[in-house]
Order: sequence, then C-alpha cells, then structure tokens
Amino acid sequence: MEISWVFIVFGSWLLALAFVLKIFNHPKRKLPPGPKPWPIIGNLNLLGSLPHVSFHHLSQKYGDLMLLKFGSKPVLVASSPEMAKEILKTHDAIFASRPELAAGKYTSYNYSDMAWAPYGAYWRQARKIYLTEIFSPKRLDSFEYIRVEEGQTLISRLFPLSGKPVLLKDHLPQFTLRTISRLVMSDKYYSSDASSIITLETLQQMLDEWFILGGVINIGDWIPWLSNKETNRRDYVPKDMVDTLLHLADDPNLEVKLKSDRLMGLIHDLIAGGTDTSAATIEWAFQELLRQPNIMDKAHQELDRAIGKERWVEEEDFSKLPYIDAIIKETFRLHPLCALLPPHYSIEDCNVAGYDIPKGTIVYVNAWSLGRNSKYWDRAEEFIPERFIENNIDIKGQNFALLPFGSGRRRCPGYSLGMKLVRTTMANLLHGFNWKLAGDMRPEDISMEEIYGLTTHPKKPISVIMEPRLPFHLY
Ligand code: HEM
Repeated sequence: MEISWVFIVFGSWLLALAFVLKIFNHPKRKLPPGPKPWPIIGNLNLLGSLPHVSFHHLSQKYGDLMLLKFGSKPVLVASSPEMAKEILKTHDAIFASRPELAAGKYTSYNYSDMAWAPYGAYWRQARKIYLTEIFSPKRLDSFEYIRVEEGQTLISRLFPLSGKPVLLKDHLPQFTLRTISRLVMSDKYYSSDASSIITLETLQQMLDEWFILGGVINIGDWIPWLSNKETNRRDYVPKDMVDTLLHLADDPNLEVKLKSDRLMGLIHDLIAGGTDTSAATIEWAFQELLRQPNIMDKAHQELDRAIGKERWVEEEDFSKLPYIDAIIKETFRLHPLCALLPPHYSIEDCNVAGYDIPKGTIVYVNAWSLGRNSKYWDRAEEFIPERFIENNIDIKGQNFALLPFGSGRRRCPGYSLGMKLVRTTMANLLHGFNWKLAGDMRPEDISMEEIYGLTTHPKKPISVIMEPRLPFHLY
C-alpha cells in the first residue's frame, strides 16, 4: 500500500514537471488566422471547384496570410503582394521545396522531375542544366527555325478555314505541342501518321489528362530507346533537348546521377511545361480581345505601322510592338495560367509577418488574387492593356503584384521560350487575320468563366470567324 502511494506521488510530480517544461520550452505559437477546421477533413469543405476563387474570398475574411487545414496538414495561403514577397523573396530558401503530394508522385516518376522535386541537390542540378544548357539564349536561338516553321504551319492550317467558324482550342494546343515536341525530341519519335511510336493525337490526350486529372503519363512507354541511345561522341552537336540531356547524363562528374526515371521526369517537364501554358495564354488573350474590338483595332494599327502588310512578324520584331506586349501582360494579370502557384513547402520553422509557420507547411501563393489587388491595380477587374504602356512593369518575378511565372528560386525556367512562343504566335494571328464572333454572339455574351487544373482555361471557348488581312501569297 505504502509503495503504491509513493508511485502515485512521484508519478504526479513527474507529470507536473513534464507539463511545466513543455510550456517553458514551447511558448505558445502565434499562428496566422484562419477558419476553424473540422475533425478529419479540416477546411476542405470550404473549397469550391475553383480553389483560387475560394481562397480569394476566404482571404477577404481572414487576411492576406491565412492558415487552413487540408485533412490534418497545415496549408498557408498568401494572397497579397506583400505576403507573396515574404514567401518568395524574404524567406525563399525556407519555402523553396515542394510537398510530397500524390500528383507529384504519380505524374512525375516519384518526384523525379524538376517541378515536383524537393529542394536539394537533385533539384539544384536539374535547374542548372535547364538554365545553362536547355534554355541558354544560344540554344534557344539555334532552334528558332523550328518555331518559325511551326508558326507558318499553324497559319496555313487556319487559312483554308477562313470565313468558317473555328474554335481556337482545336488548333493552338496542337501547334504548341508540335513545336515543343520538335524542340525537345525532334519529330522522329512521333508524327501524325499511325506508324510512329506515338501519334500526336495520343500525346495530346495524355497531356490533357495529365493537366486536368493529374493522371499517369509514362514517357518510358514511348521512348524505349531512352537508356540505349549513344551520346558520347566527341563531335557531338545536340539535335534537340533530349539529345542535350542524354549527353549530360553520361557526365561522370554529375553530383546526382541522371538515371532513366529522372531523364523521363525532366523530358516530361519540358513537354508539359511548354505546351499548355503558351496555348492557354493565347486563348485567354483572344477571349478578351473579342470582347473589346477597339483593342484589336489598336493592335492591328500597331502591326501595320511597325511591320507592314508584306511580311510576317519575326521574333526580333518584338521590341517594335509595345501594344501587343501590353495585351499579353494584361492577359497574364487577369488570367495567370497557374492561378495558384504550384505548392511550395517549408523545410524549417520560421516567422512570417509576425506569425509562426511550422516546418512542413504547404504554401499556396494566389497569383490570381495578386493581379486583382485594388491597392496596386486601378479598375482591377477591367482588361486595360494601356496600364502597361511606358512603365516597363516586370513580369519575371520582381513585381509581386504580377507573378505569372512565379518568383525566387522556383520561378519558371522556361520564361524565355514561353514568351517567344506567346509573343510571335499572338502577333502573327493578329497580323494575319481579322477576327469576329461566329453566329449572333455579341461581345458582351462572351463568358470569362474558368476551368481549374494545373493550368486554368476558359470554360466556354468561343467560336470565331477569321478573314485573311495580308496578301494571299503570304499564307
Ligand atoms: C507562358 C508560358 C509559361 C508560364 C505562364 C509558366 C508559368 C510557370 C509558373 C507559374 C511556375 C511555378 C513557379 C513557382 O513554383 O513559384 C512554373 C514553373 C515551371 N515551369 Fe513554367 N511557365 C511557362 C512556360 C514554360 C515552358 C516553355 C517550360 C519548359 C519548356 C516551363 C517549365 C517549367 C518548369 C520545369 C517549372 C518548375 C520549376 C521548379 O519547380 O523549380 N514553363 N512555370
């Protein structure tokens, strides 16, 4: 009896001590505000079909930096330029990782690509390869002829459809896919005829699935030669981006070996990253222009003045087309392709704007909200390209009110290629055709509703009639 009393007293004393020590060692953390989570689901019940819009509305109630729970996982949402800067600049090194979500596991060979790779040696090496080898200005210039040829193919496919109703979404993704596939792996591995390893249509379907459902795409199935190809020739000149990667994979000095899973992940990044993004940007731009024909007229006037009617626009002409550049920037502001930047992830505890953010928090920066912030944008909901004339507003990650390509360590490495594609394609589609709405649709009937995926698209694409505006021999 006496012994059990000793146990009880001693045990209680130990418990009390543990409690005091816990309080002493972990002063109460100050977490950002946010809605109260439910057991098991957390705040998942608050997300609608457009998560960026749900976050936007929630942020108006809880603030620019709010904390939610998805299931039991903490999710931080940054909704203002100031908070985006905190995450992507002030604390960039802490938030530069990616969470291990199912999407990354199944679509990217178990996080073997760069977009889903955690912050670390492999990601750093992959990024260096992309920036110095794949997207170096010299390499990009050497493939300009592919972009020109594919741009001409797009125009000559649209020309016979003059006067008939056309949906841009039936032509643009195929054009960007052809261009990117040729840049990445020439056109020897797929074509539109059924005898190739894979047809362009199948590749397109796989990518669509990947973007919308996060479904599984297995490049290894259709590039079976991936590990066999000879690349260690001394007189080696890369024919495409895959050639460059395979050549690098043989380098014995690489810090992290590029095995086939990783090669496939990197190739996948290039094809998926380059195809949908550029096509959807152009689709959104025309969706806006058809609502405001006066903006289209101004763009035509600029093209007639700067280029004339006897030739097509080339990449080097772009400095002469500030109004079209402004249209593209305004499109990015209202329709950032990644409405929510792909999730970032904290690898250490840190303090953001006075709040304690635990290690292991998933972070979303709401690019869609940033472009609509009334403190930074006058008449924020309206499409007004003029706001970008003569002020050189940055879109590469320095201006936190406009982050179409993200910012900081994880910002898009494909910026130059993406912009080259968007600019010349937009300019030549405008230069080559007059545009009007098909049927009895009026500009004010055009819907700007979105479908959410890894990239955001118009929900109701519009049918247009295109008429050539240059001499026929140019088409
Ligand atoms: C209009 C064109 C494009 C837009 C709007 C765009 C946008 C973005 C955005 C918002 C991010 C995420 C940044 C972040 O996590 O904070 C990103 C990342 C990325 N983009 Fe792009 N992109 C475009 C074109 C391209 C192209 C052409 C490629 C490759 C061919 C590409 C490859 C990638 C890759 C690999 C990443 C992941 C970077 C990382 O996690 O370190 N993108 N892009």
